[in-house]
Amino acid sequence: LARGTAAPDLAGRHVVISAGGTREPLDPVRFLGNRSSGKQGYALARTAVARGARVTLVAAHTDALADPAGADVVPVGTAEELRAAVLKAAADADAVVMAAAVADFRPAAYATSKIKKSDDGAGPAPVELVRNPDVLAELSAHRARPGQVVAGFAAETDDVLANGRAKLARKGCDLLVVNEVGGGKAFGTDDNEAVVLGADGSATPVPHGPKEALADQVWDLVAARLDAGAR
Ligand code: CTP
Ligand code: CA
Repeated sequence: LARGTAAPDLAGRHVVISAGGTREPLDPVRFLGNRSSGKQGYALARTAVARGARVTLVAAHTDALADPAGADVVPVGTAEELRAAVLKAAADADAVVMAAAVADFRPAAYATSKIKKSDDGAGPAPVELVRNPDVLAELSAHRARPGQVVAGFAAETDDVLANGRAKLARKGCDLLVVNEVGGGKAFGTDDNEAVVLGADGSATPVPHGPKEALADQVWDLVAARLDAGAR
């Protein structure tokens, strides 16, 4: 198995990674967002470069992180922007890994002026939300290339494995990295612990360790599927 500077098993492959968390604007100064740091996606990008891949990194609000050397970084803001950038890059990709936390909903309307509270003490108007497109499900259902490998991440707080299995089936992807969040786990930390579920019924536990180690495990599983498809 290739690790770091060993045989570049992803040489000649184009991989697309989404990282970070989308923000859905309410008005010019406010947004709905999430706590994703982007660190896992960046670790995926660094390890993929090290393994010889051409890497497109679609990055949503990852300003605190340094661009991985050798990766093509495409900055995006909202889920709609992320979808457009990922689908464009996926057109000639061998694998797509969706590590970004994509907002499930966005405000139904965007106020072009800052929303003001009223002086009469009245409560705020409710914020109406609409669904965002599910990029992972779309990528999985419409593979841009035969044999393209599609992977997602799922952060779960309860019934981690059962929820992960159900989510893998619902999304239709090849691999789903499931990790437990809450109580300080995963978000913003440098370490991760996960189980990678495969559409083939496999479950690969990844012990607690650096996000690079989980990233390399993901690439091992992706590379095995790419090699199987090539034969
Ligand atoms: N995802 C996506 N588009 C969305 C939401 C999620 O592509 N609109 C991707 C994420 O990038 C991740 C995977 O789907 O790889 C799982 O995200 P998650 O939020 O766990 O899944 P959901 O289907 O949104 O389920 P939940 O209701 O638990 O949030
Ligand atoms: Ca979600």
